[in-house]
Amino acid sequence: MTLRIEITRPDDWHLHLRDGDELKSVLPHSARQFARAIIMPNLKPPVTDTETALTYRERILTAIPPGIVFDPLMTLYLTDRTTPDEIRRAAESGFIKAVKLYPAGATTHSDSGVTNLDRCDAALSEMEKQEMPLLVHGEVADPSIDIFDRERIFIESVLQPMLARYPGMRIIFEHITTKDAVDFVVSASDNLAATITAHHLLYNRNVVFSGGLRPHHYCLPVLKRETHRRALLEAASSGDPKFMLGTDSAPHTRHSKESACACAGCYTAHAALELYAEAFESVNALDRLESFASFNGPDFYRLPRNASKITLEKQDWTVPPSFSYGKNDSLIPLRAGELLHWKMI
Ligand code: DOR
Ligand code: ZN
Repeated sequence: MTLRIEITRPDDWHLHLRDGDELKSVLPHSARQFARAIIMPNLKPPVTDTETALTYRERILTAIPPGIVFDPLMTLYLTDRTTPDEIRRAAESGFIKAVKLYPAGATTHSDSGVTNLDRCDAALSEMEKQEMPLLVHGEVADPSIDIFDRERIFIESVLQPMLARYPGMRIIFEHITTKDAVDFVVSASDNLAATITAHHLLYNRNVVFSGGLRPHHYCLPVLKRETHRRALLEAASSGDPKFMLGTDSAPHTRHSKESACACAGCYTAHAALELYAEAFESVNALDRLESFASFNGPDFYRLPRNASKITLEKQDWTVPPSFSYGKNDSLIPLRAGELLHWKMI
């Protein structure tokens, strides 16, 4: 008999959709599986105000395939110049659900990010007042710090002081990659939660170097060693409501990945739920997938859980070798040309 599991329709609490023709190429993959997604604001130029977020949201709504219901939950990109007034406007808009902190220089399109958190004090205080969650890319950007230590050092030098200074603010530590982050989230107040990607649950850093340099497995924060992957898997499948699904699916053109200076980002939206199912099955925790994928996110964001259901079936299928992307480029998905063992039907 075919094995099937039915769960409440999930949401993706961290997604890069890009814009224009690229947006049209990738959006159907996410909308097939997820009812809602938190849309990252790191466009070029970034989404730093409510008006820009509104027009971006309209372009996303226009790109949704007919007959599919998908609600893009918008975010603002925090800069040194974000004003408390802008935070108020965002909160009053109703469609902006969070503000994203990129330390300047930490990752793709983060050059307009925050150079010094003291400069954001007024904006962050207003966020605390407006009950607007803060999403953090949790890595220090200092190039002199070893890339594998940047998340751990961010915790002690930025996150811990931030939680103390704004005790009423809900913070989501995005795409955590280390046991240090897991332990910190578990021990911190209920105002701190974390997203975990499918690729950080399935791979350790060896995959980036297996038989040659593999740019399609290069993302930020970079994959870490096996002990960290194990800790992430244990956290995601523990039932702890502080951990939620966030793919960080980040499309880049094939030529910008297969380059002397490859862009950071793994594309997982084409099979996100199937990849998470594989990770959960590996630790016999499929019964915990629903809380991680469908309950913990809306509960933390104080949004209703979805009412509809989706079904995953144990079935082998082969991921296409590439997808068309934008006007005339292509995109290499995670597991391109390889087998997956779960399929959403
Ligand atoms: O790997 C990543 N890609 N990490 C990020 O933080 C940004 C993202 C992107 O936008 O490409
Ligand atoms: Zn991201």
